[in-house]
Amino acid sequence: MGAGTHTGHGHGHGHGHAHGEDDVDWEAMAEFLEQEAELRIGFAEEAAAWLRGLLLEGGCGPEIAARLLDVGSGPGVHTALLAREFPQAEVVAVDGEPALLERARSRAEREGVGSRVKTLEAQLPEGFGHLGSADVIWTSHVVHHIGDQQAALDALAASVRPGGLLAVVERGLSPRYLPRDIGLGRPGLLARLEALTQDWFSGMRAALPGHTRTVEDWPAMLARAGLSPAGSRSFLTDVPAPLEHAVRSQLRTHLSREREAFDEQLDAEDKRTLEALLDEDAPTGIMHRPDVFYLAATTVHTGRAS
Ligand SMILES: C[S@@+](CC[C@H](N)C(=O)[O-])C[C@H]1O[C@@H](n2cnc3c(N)ncnc32)[C@H](O)[C@@H]1O
Repeated sequence: MGAGTHTGHGHGHGHGHAHGEDDVDWEAMAEFLEQEAELRIGFAEEAAAWLRGLLLEGGCGPEIAARLLDVGSGPGVHTALLAREFPQAEVVAVDGEPALLERARSRAEREGVGSRVKTLEAQLPEGFGHLGSADVIWTSHVVHHIGDQQAALDALAASVRPGGLLAVVERGLSPRYLPRDIGLGRPGLLARLEALTQDWFSGMRAALPGHTRTVEDWPAMLARAGLSPAGSRSFLTDVPAPLEHAVRSQLRTHLSREREAFDEQLDAEDKRTLEALLDEDAPTGIMHRPDVFYLAATTVHTGRAS
């Protein structure tokens, strides 16, 4: 569930019928994205509190933030949270995938913020011109799915109202969830999977329309977009062992996707280890072993409009 995984921040190897401009089947990933965002909700709560403080410092109190955008909202876990954290504001979930927007809408209703949550279907980058202006634009694990990341930030920055913020969630530290040596196969399996994921990620980006290589220095990119960098912070998700069933199940889904996606690159020993981890009945499998934990960091970069 790392920054590049097909699962991690929701990157899917979702081969098959792709809906977006990359080769990811976001609709098929819906449940996974939702569970992953729920697992990491603590980071988003802390980040939202930080954004409220930044708005105050900038002289634009959170209570006068009237419109927020959650760009690439997916199933809307962050959209509903932003609506709770900014109780006066309208929050718009923007995504290219209607089925995910439908989930965002249902979640907002369930969480009692439905009257202030709107949805906007927009395929990016074409749809940038239709977003309207906002006091806060939040975009989590989305910009890297757009070919020209700097142009994406430029467009988003242009939609931020004076004194408002653009908050870009990108990278951080990929989750760790198993010890280095798990007593099966060659130690260091997660590090090898991470290396394969990085290559997959580069390939995913290279295939995007209008792909432009950029030094991924997010504060510098925000400054080039005309914003004043307002700080970058990383938030830890730290769930110690033993994990509950739902998180194990999420990790099992992730590992099975990796097993499938990297079939050609993995050696025989690592494939055997993965099969053992995926075995739902074995005590050494991820569903039962006592040493499975979840530790990840999520980084949020902010820029302020003047
Ligand atoms: C990794 S998910 C992130 C979901 C959510 N923001 C989160 O952090 O949990 C990426 C989301 O961006 C959307 N997306 C990806 N590329 C897009 C594009 N070119 N235009 C519009 N939406 C896009 C996908 O449909 C998906 O919902």
